[in-house]
Amino acid sequence: MGSTFNRIFFYNAKTARSGIPRLLPHRDFALKIGVFIWEKSFSLARQMAYPTRDVYKNVAMIREMSTKDDFSGGVSEFYDKWAEHYDEDLERAKYGGPVACAEALCKLMSDKNALIVDIGAGTGRSGQELAKCGFKRIDAVDFSQKSLDISTSKGVYERLICDSVGKNKLKGVTDGYYSGLLCVGAIAAGHISQDAFPEFTRIVKKGGIMVFTVSKVTLPTDGQIQKKIIQGIQDAINDLVRTGVWEVVEKTSITYLHDNEADRFIIRRL
Ligand SMILES: C[S@@+](CC[C@H](N)C(=O)[O-])C[C@H]1O[C@@H](n2cnc3c(N)ncnc32)[C@H](O)[C@@H]1O
Repeated sequence: MGSTFNRIFFYNAKTARSGIPRLLPHRDFALKIGVFIWEKSFSLARQMAYPTRDVYKNVAMIREMSTKDDFSGGVSEFYDKWAEHYDEDLERAKYGGPVACAEALCKLMSDKNALIVDIGAGTGRSGQELAKCGFKRIDAVDFSQKSLDISTSKGVYERLICDSVGKNKLKGVTDGYYSGLLCVGAIAAGHISQDAFPEFTRIVKKGGIMVFTVSKVTLPTDGQIQKKIIQGIQDAINDLVRTGVWEVVEKTSITYLHDNEADRFIIRRL
């Protein structure tokens, strides 16, 4: 018994000892794989950030995501997950953007049968306000399919277009198709940037009206970065004005989330 034990013990100890030098390179390799998996899961966890019930925390999470190189896709997934509670959470945050923007479009457009596009429509809060103003033909564009699904319950949209808004041409939208464009709360960090302005211009017919918001609440908190982003948007608008493509009808401050303000731009497509 003793000798069997000794044989097993010493045999194992010997193999283990002799195995150490041979295993060393594998250990380095295993370590590298471990670090790789850890890094990947960390970046995945960041992309899969889960919405809270606090609008400001969610806005901060999206802002944080957008500072990373690998955030693409993360924002639409985030909105997909938030969609179910979005309306309730924004209601609590006294979200005034949709009413203020829909009313502006309503005042300037008397033809309520005109085609309107709600860019970054989300769950349809702005569409609902447009319908209250009497608009009958509204399309919604958003890259969050779950938000668009929820928007159907509002019963205000004619067509739902699930697409990303940026430099690309929007799916199935011909030149000058719309008479009005609304984009509430969607020009923000990690959302839509001024890169989409040429596409706004393409899809809106000459003489058409565009209304959109830009709010500091949705931009990075660092003053310098914030200033740079706002300047970038303003420069793009100035260029379009200078080249005779846009006319700024009005730029006013509106109450956006609680007491926080947003700039509301009213633009005429020339
Ligand atoms: C703050 S929510 C505003 C939703 C709605 N306009 C409102 O006022 O309630 C922003 C919406 O824009 C959408 N969005 C953000 N970036 C987008 C992009 N690049 N392309 C398409 N949709 C985008 C999001 O999915 C989200 O539904």
